[in-house]
Amino acid sequence: MADSGLSYDQGPPFGAPLRLFLTAPLFPLLAACLGLVMPDWQTTRWTGVSLAMTHLITLGYLGMVMLGALLQMLPVVLGSPVPAARLVGWCGWLGLGLGAPGLALGFLLGEPLWLVAGTLLLALGLVPFSIAIAVSLIKTRAPRVAWPIRLATLALLITLALGSVLAGALSGLWPVQALADLTALHAAWGLLGWVLILVIGVAYQVVPMLQITPDYPAWVTRWLTWLMLAGLLLYSAPSSTDWLPNNDLPGALPLCASCVVFAVVTLRLQARRRRRIADVSLDFWRLGMVSLILAALLFAVLHGLPAAWMAAAEISLGILFLLGFAASVVQGMLYKIVPFLAWFHLKTQTGARLGAIPNMKQMLPEPLVRQHFRLHLAMLILLLAAPILPAPLGQVSASAGLLLLAGGAMRLELNLRHAKTLFLRHGGRLGQAAENK
Ligand code: HEM
Repeated sequence: MADSGLSYDQGPPFGAPLRLFLTAPLFPLLAACLGLVMPDWQTTRWTGVSLAMTHLITLGYLGMVMLGALLQMLPVVLGSPVPAARLVGWCGWLGLGLGAPGLALGFLLGEPLWLVAGTLLLALGLVPFSIAIAVSLIKTRAPRVAWPIRLATLALLITLALGSVLAGALSGLWPVQALADLTALHAAWGLLGWVLILVIGVAYQVVPMLQITPDYPAWVTRWLTWLMLAGLLLYSAPSSTDWLPNNDLPGALPLCASCVVFAVVTLRLQARRRRRIADVSLDFWRLGMVSLILAALLFAVLHGLPAAWMAAAEISLGILFLLGFAASVVQGMLYKIVPFLAWFHLKTQTGARLGAIPNMKQMLPEPLVRQHFRLHLAMLILLLAAPILPAPLGQVSASAGLLLLAGGAMRLELNLRHAKTLFLRHGGRLGQAAENK
């Protein structure tokens, strides 16, 4: 990886992304604990606890890891340093670290004060971050690679704006027509715009680089995320398709198709990877791609399901997309990025010869990662089975699934701390950037 023409010495100090990566697992742990003490998240996606768990996972977990990954990737892959990276990193960490639990508390208690406070803290963290990313993306020397990340950043700002309008409406600050439609838009731009387009943009770089696969085909890297933007815009303007029985369709179809295309192309590239050794991070990616295909298929048939199944189907869709796809891919990336950064910064800082410092496999041993994968897979199976199983088996399966979600989050935290401990033990300095020895 070091000789891939990527400017790792442009990256921020190891401590900047690591702080975000180490805080992220606390949020699925918190979401799991909430779901265990308040089980009515299983009834509908609209209870206070469901909305709290959704935002702890989307903002707290995925948000933290993605901000850390962008802080690291933009200077290295796009050759364009993030301005004021340390300050922006702290803003993002504090804004998400305080804002996500604040917003969750607002949903849980139905308390406008917490809804507004959480929203303001999130904006204070994410708006400076988005502006810094935008500056870096404008200055980049690799515009074609940058477009998906630009679209994802735009989608994040649209999600934040819609979320703030919704939070203000729920807090009685201003009236909003068609709250449900606006919430559907907010969710679509957040999940499909910010999360999915960012994962696709990052995958174009990290799958060939980290898993030694052929590059993504040009027709995919050139058109797929634009097709998704078109789908999101169509989904956002349903009034233009009132004559259709289900006027989400013109937007939903290209979005579902894009999900399936991306997942199938990625699985095919991984099947043609040049290094044929077993690799748990690859298993996380594969699980993520299979979950994305299942989520797209469920989303496509959702409107045709009997009303009695709707609530359970919507919750299953959320679990498939957030935990099956997004969390799996994020963990697959973390288990490659963190040991590499620990090794690279240690080697650069100490100038140690190879063998004198731990290599990537020693920084994060495969058996520890394999343990997490097993917990994660079992969690998914139990949570997805819960709505189908008769009572009380369904509740037992859901609670067991949440216990495994908590176990997986703790395993991830311990695994990342294993790499940090070895880095510090061999003389690494978290606050020192690669170039200035
Ligand atoms: C400043 C940040 C955010 C705020 C203030 C916010 C606020 C809200 C509000 C008020 C609702 C509606 C709740 C209701 O109708 O009762 C909502 C729903 C939702 N939000 Fe957010 N949100 C934010 C960020 C995000 C992000 C980044 C994502 C995804 C990546 C997201 C995903 C969702 C989803 C999926 C729903 C619908 C719930 C469901 O479908 O189960 N939100 N949000």
